[in-house]
Amino acid sequence: DVPIITVDGPSGVGKGTLSQALAQHFGWTLLDSGAIYRVLALSILNKGLENAPVKQLVETAKALNVEFKSHESSIEVYLDGVNVTKAVRQESTGIAASKIATIAEVRDALLQRQRNFAIKPGLVADGRDMGTVVFPNASVKLFIDASTQARADRRIYQLKQAGAPCNPEEVLQDIIERDKRDRNRAVAPLIAAVDALIIDTTHLTITEVYETALKFIMN
Ligand code: CDP
Repeated sequence: DVPIITVDGPSGVGKGTLSQALAQHFGWTLLDSGAIYRVLALSILNKGLENAPVKQLVETAKALNVEFKSHESSIEVYLDGVNVTKAVRQESTGIAASKIATIAEVRDALLQRQRNFAIKPGLVADGRDMGTVVFPNASVKLFIDASTQARADRRIYQLKQAGAPCNPEEVLQDIIERDKRDRNRAVAPLIAAVDALIIDTTHLTITEVYETALKFIMN
């Protein structure tokens, strides 16, 4: 059996940073499941399928040609061979992703694709439903949380670092809206698995979060 660490939590909580650090520490594969939802959203937007019937969205999800390529310390995302790393990170793409992520059939269509990342020597899976739906038998489950404002501040910092357009008030509103959608949807709502360690990172540094997680994993 492949050892799996799941890292779930709301938007802008630092799951990506933590997951990357853990994957690097153990030399394991990293699954950024949010990036898959984001790329699917891009593909749907590119094809003008925003209002298409579910059947067509499912077909698009099944046929999605997405690739992740490690490039120095970052991971580049490709859709149909085109580098979409920048477009994928935009807030508009995140919002579109959270909309299509409410559709049960679309989530099902992405299930096997995500499970295929579980290869030896191990996997760190970052998302919303990694510990609850995709990898319910994971060896270690983490649920990372933080206050809405702390998450907005981090996201603003991240966007500025990336040189991306950023309106602080809009970022906060987007996080509030996305949270609402992620927590209240009928399928795979954002919730901690019963056996997950919940880490509130509002007042913790990245290093403190990492050390807390590592200590739990090693126990
Ligand atoms: O980076 P951030 O945490 O803001 O978002 P993300 O992890 O890239 O995910 C973008 C959106 O995809 C989320 O708002 C969720 O609605 C959706 N998602 C999901 O439903 N299930 C996952 N396992 C991962 C993402």
